[in-house]
Amino acid sequence: MQVLVLGSAAGGGFPQWNCNCHNCHGIRSGRLKARSRTQSSIAISSDGERWLLCNASPDIRAQIAANPELHPRHGVRDSGIAEVLLVDAQIDHVTGLLSLREGCPLNVWCTPNVHRDLSTGFPLFPMLEHWQGGLHWQPIEADEGHPTACFSVAACPGLIFTAVALHSNAPPYSPRRGAPTPGDNIGLYIEDTVEGRSLFYAPGLGKLTDAVRGWLARADCVLVDGTLWHNDELQQAGVGQATGEDMGHLALADQPGLLNELDALPESVRRILIHINNTNPILDEDSRQRAELDARGIEVAYDGMRFEP
Ligand code: MLT
Ligand code: MN
Ligand code: ZN
Repeated sequence: MQVLVLGSAAGGGFPQWNCNCHNCHGIRSGRLKARSRTQSSIAISSDGERWLLCNASPDIRAQIAANPELHPRHGVRDSGIAEVLLVDAQIDHVTGLLSLREGCPLNVWCTPNVHRDLSTGFPLFPMLEHWQGGLHWQPIEADEGHPTACFSVAACPGLIFTAVALHSNAPPYSPRRGAPTPGDNIGLYIEDTVEGRSLFYAPGLGKLTDAVRGWLARADCVLVDGTLWHNDELQQAGVGQATGEDMGHLALADQPGLLNELDALPESVRRILIHINNTNPILDEDSRQRAELDARGIEVAYDGMRFEP
């Protein structure tokens, strides 16, 4: 299984267009040792030819341009992106579908909750019907941690996907904002049956249950929510009132926090953070917080990162 990190930032990207926080100002002025990052998306492949796009970011055009694996190769119209999967219906994960309209019809895997939001509040599914038949919904059952919700994707032979229902949040435009139900957010446990390796991917993780801990511990590699260092980080930075809890992102360094959960995993598990918000001090490669991650053996994903779990 090959993983391509297309975008490693949270919504807004880094730097964010209208943000003058310490990090955003710092990278613009050249004073901060940091990489710019586009919005949350990865691609998965088992043969290195056909890729499953996991989340379609508003930055997709630049992301495709930056990754030759996704360029057209065969015939006059083609793409390395064979199918799409969405872990939620958040703006930073779905808006890129608009930019893929020339490639319709396109299979899009998502839960009934996500499909409902993308048919009503943000009606991408009905809209794109006007482009060569649009998006072909491939329903995913979101299970509360039971290993029954497995599926396979034609683009990725040999991989078995399990959708794990997560506690996070529905998008601000959803009628379920603040009261999400199973299927608003999923994590993916992806098992490579040929190589015997596995990945757990969850860019939005609000709360850990024992079931979710079980999936994390089973994986050879976890690629998980690094949105915030502290729950009240947006308030502290003076850029907003929402807490991590409000948004459905468990902060890294608080109590409870994701760092402790990652520390508790078996030592052999590779730990990588993704979906990093522009306010997060770990973006500063010289920061104390980044050094703390290094000491714990936790990596920070960057755009263009490639790895095999
Ligand atoms: C989130 O992950 O909480 C959202 O993507 C934030 C946003 O609206 O961009
Ligand atoms: Mn997001
Ligand atoms: Zn900022």
